[in-house]
Parts: sequence; C-alpha cells; structure tokens
Amino acid sequence: LNSLLSPLDRAQAAKNKGNKYFKAGKYENAIQCYTEAIALCPTEQKADLSTFYQNRAAAYEQQMKWTEVVQDCSQAVELNPRYVKALFRRAKALEKLDNKKECLEDVTAVCILEAFQNQQSMLLADKVLKQLGKEKAKEKYKNREPMMPSPQFIKSYFSSFTDDIISQPLQKGEKKDEDKDKEGEAAEVTESSGYLKAKQYMEEENYDKIISECTKEIESGGRYTAEALLLRATFFLLIGNATAAQPDLDRVINMQDANVKLRANALIKRGSMYMQQQQPLLSTQDFNMAAEIDTRNPDVYHHRGQLKILLDQVDEAVGDFDECILLRPDSALAQAQKCFALYRQAYTGNNPAQVQTAMDGFEDVIRRFPKCAEGYALYAQALTDQQQFGKADEMYDKCIELEPDNATTYVHKGLLQLQWKQDLDLGLELISKAIEIDNKCDFAYETMGTIEVQRGNLDKAIEMFNKAINLAKSEMEMAHLYSLCDAAYAQTEVARKYGLKPPTL
Ligand SMILES: *[C@@H]1O[C@H](CO)[C@@H](O)[C@H](O)[C@H]1NC(C)=O
Ligand SMILES: *[C@@H]1O[C@H](CO)[C@@H](O)[C@H](O)[C@H]1NC(C)=O
Repeated sequence: LNSLLSPLDRAQAAKNKGNKYFKAGKYENAIQCYTEAIALCPTEQKADLSTFYQNRAAAYEQQMKWTEVVQDCSQAVELNPRYVKALFRRAKALEKLDNKKECLEDVTAVCILEAFQNQQSMLLADKVLKQLGKEKAKEKYKNREPMMPSPQFIKSYFSSFTDDIISQPLQKGEKKDEDKDKEGEAAEVTESSGYLKAKQYMEEENYDKIISECTKEIESGGRYTAEALLLRATFFLLIGNATAAQPDLDRVINMQDANVKLRANALIKRGSMYMQQQQPLLSTQDFNMAAEIDTRNPDVYHHRGQLKILLDQVDEAVGDFDECILLRPDSALAQAQKCFALYRQAYTGNNPAQVQTAMDGFEDVIRRFPKCAEGYALYAQALTDQQQFGKADEMYDKCIELEPDNATTYVHKGLLQLQWKQDLDLGLELISKAIEIDNKCDFAYETMGTIEVQRGNLDKAIEMFNKAINLAKSEMEMAHLYSLCDAAYAQTEVARKYGLKPPTL
C-alpha cells in the first residue's frame, strides 16, 4: 500500500507519525520519523520540507541539543525565509549557545514579521539587547578616554550643592594675591598653592587643570589637603572615572578632624556613585551617615531625596525634600522636586485630586521662584504627561529664557513638538540647536538617534547612538545606549538579509 503513495504523501505520513511520538514525549522516535520525512520529501516541495526540518528542530530543542536545533532551523529558514516559528526557535537556541549577535538578528526579524505584537519575542529581544549592552559597555567604559563635560554641565552639577565648601568662591583672605605682601604667610601660600590655584582655575572655567593642581596640594601635604582630595574626586567623577575618585572620597570621609561639611559632601558623592553602580544599600548607608554627622546640611536631604526617588520610595523622598526646605526655605530646587515626586505618586496611583494638588504646587513654586529654571522644566514634564502641550511649551520657553545655554531644554522642547504636533522637522531642528549649543549633549544625540530609527534612517541613527555612547557619563547609561544602537544595527541586518523593514513614521 505504501508504495502506491507519492513520495510526498509518504513523507507526510512519516511526519504525522513523528508528531504523535513528539506529543507522547518520545523525542528520539520523533526525530527518526522527521528524518525519514526529510529523506522522502521531493526537494522542490520547499514548504513541506521546511516544516519537517522545523519539527525536527523542535524535537532537538526538547533534548537541549542546541547546535542541532540551529542547523535544522537554518535549513527551514533557507527554504522559507519568513518562517517565524523556525526563526524564533533558532533565536532561542542561539541564546543558549551564547551567540547573542545572531540571536538578536533572528528575534528582530521575528518581531518585525509579527509587527511587534508578540510578547514572547519582544521579551527575548529586550533581554538580549540588555545583555549585549551591558557586556559592551563594560568593555568600552574601562578603556575609554576620560572626558571633561561641558562647562554648562559642570556649573549645573556644582549648583546642586549649596552647603559645600569646595564650590564656594574663595574667601577674601584666601586669595593668593591678597596674601602676597604678608611675609611668611605668602611663602606658605605659594608652597601649598595647588588647591588655591585649582580654585582659581575653577572660577575661570579652566577645568582641565584642576586635577593636577589638586594633586600638587595633596602630594605636598598642604593645609588644604582635604579640600583638594574632595575637589579632585569631584572632577574624577565628572570625567567619569569612579575608580580614581573612590580612594580620594574614602580618605576625606575617614579624616576625623576634617571639616564636617567636607566629609558630608564626600559621603553624598560616594553615595551617588554607589547608586550609579547599582549598589543601593551602600548608597543608602553613605547618605544616612552624612545625615548623622551633619544633621543640618540641606544638601544631604536634597540628594538623599533624589536617591529615594530612584528607589521608588516616594514618601521618604518627600520627607527628605521637606527637611531640606525646612533648613533652606529658599531652596527652589527641592520644592520643585518635591512637587514632581508628589505628581509622580499621584499619577501612578491614578489619583486625579492629588494630581491637581501637585499641579497647583508647581504653580506655587514658579510664582515664588520665578528664576528657578528647573521648576519650569519639571512642571513642563508633568504638563506634557497631562497632555497640556501648549502650556508645557510655554514652560520650556521660560526655561530657555532663563538658561539659554542649557541644551537639555531644547531636546525636551523638541520631543514635545513630536508628541504634540507630530512635527518631525521642528523637533529635529530644536535638537540640532541643542547640539549646536553643547556638542557634548549625549541626550540630544540619543534622542536624534531614536527619531531616525522611527523614520527608518538606520545608518544615521547608528551614527547618532555611537556619538552618544562616546559621551555617556556612566557605564549604565552607556549600556542603555548600546542596546539602542544594537537594536538599530540588527534592523539593518534584517533589512539586508530578508528585505524586512519595520513600519516607519
Ligand atoms: C538643564 O536643565 C535641566 C532641566 O531641563 C536640568 O535638570 C539640568 O540640570 C540643566 N543642565 C545644565 C547643564 O544646566
Ligand atoms: C581612572 O583612574 C585610574 C586610577 O587613577 C587609572 O588607572 C585609569 O586609567 C583611569 N581610567 C580612565 C578611563 O581614565
């Protein structure tokens, strides 16, 4: 009877038998049947043949024979290039074999073929992108050139501390020139001029020389050694070298007779550094110790509040902002951030009355502190969330009026134009303006890359992401950017191999 059937029918029969074994969990038998089906199937029957390979791959998958899975799926995909099941199975096997690059290409093809509607494949894509990003960032971050951020960034960083000795201008008597005529003292000042010189460079925004001047102070054991250690550590952090910053911070923190303000500031900075390294426990410990040794330092509460926000502990964040405001009623930044914390809490908790209270709070903040750009910026973010685009745009304009050289604001305003009016040209124009103002604005490059992905300009997007990667201020941020870049790169490969393109704007 069997000989009366066509070869294809006999192959189908073998496959059906294989399916029965498969369902019964008899994978070895199933594999034999599929192998028979493959041997019997006429080669021009591509669709059937690809199914047989795909089925055999499924059986190998049950046996965790990943190399065989990849081989059979490859046969299946060659016969039927848009075979989602085979592509996805190969992606999963490639992940097991730790071949992330090819895994990503397969799963990207799957996502596009499924129009980004399948949770499972999107989760795998996301997972592989994160792993790849982390690996690449780890490698690159270690070996990158240290880089001084823009003067705007540095000034804004220092302005987030108010109770901080090293960012205050020098007191009159400390200035070098004014000590000149006094004998004896003058000699001391010249000998230990490292720190004072560093401070002078800071006022002149000549940031590149600060680290070496601090080193002179430290190596000569000058009277400003603690200050110099803290200032040097701060600049190591600013150029992204936490490895170099840590021993300096440790030293200041352990200097029992140093000014407590210096030690508290060092603890804040080490705590923030730990947070960037995803060590929330160590970070919390440092902030708590800072609050213990310098109980009335508003900076401690302000920065601990920001940490609590990152840790999603909103109530505690609000408590810390309140403490900061109590100590420094004119701290506009803390008030604005408190409003934002309350707003996020109300918004995620779906509480319209509380949202309204938070929005009223913002109105109050910008009325009382009309010169605080951050107040307008945070209010604008909340307004955007609430789809009050026109008003959000007005708030960004106020920010720009107050701080015309803050590139970030232009990027936010650009994003708003996209969301509000779907106006790509205006959005891109504003982001280009941001880059013009600050060509080290990584956020601008990242945003531009994201828009180029949406427009289908993958090569341009990759170029932008790479610029952002080279400017990233932390390994975590760099990992995120690598994920974006790899996603765009995988899409280019998929377009080249299969002629598949995701929908564009
Ligand atoms: C720019 O403004 C944003 C708010 O939009 C603020 O968070 C940031 O600190 C400012 N950056 C600089 C460099 O002034
Ligand atoms: C960071 O500082 C350490 C210790 O001073 C040094 O060995 C390393 O080369 C620096 N890394 C970068 C990227 O500059």
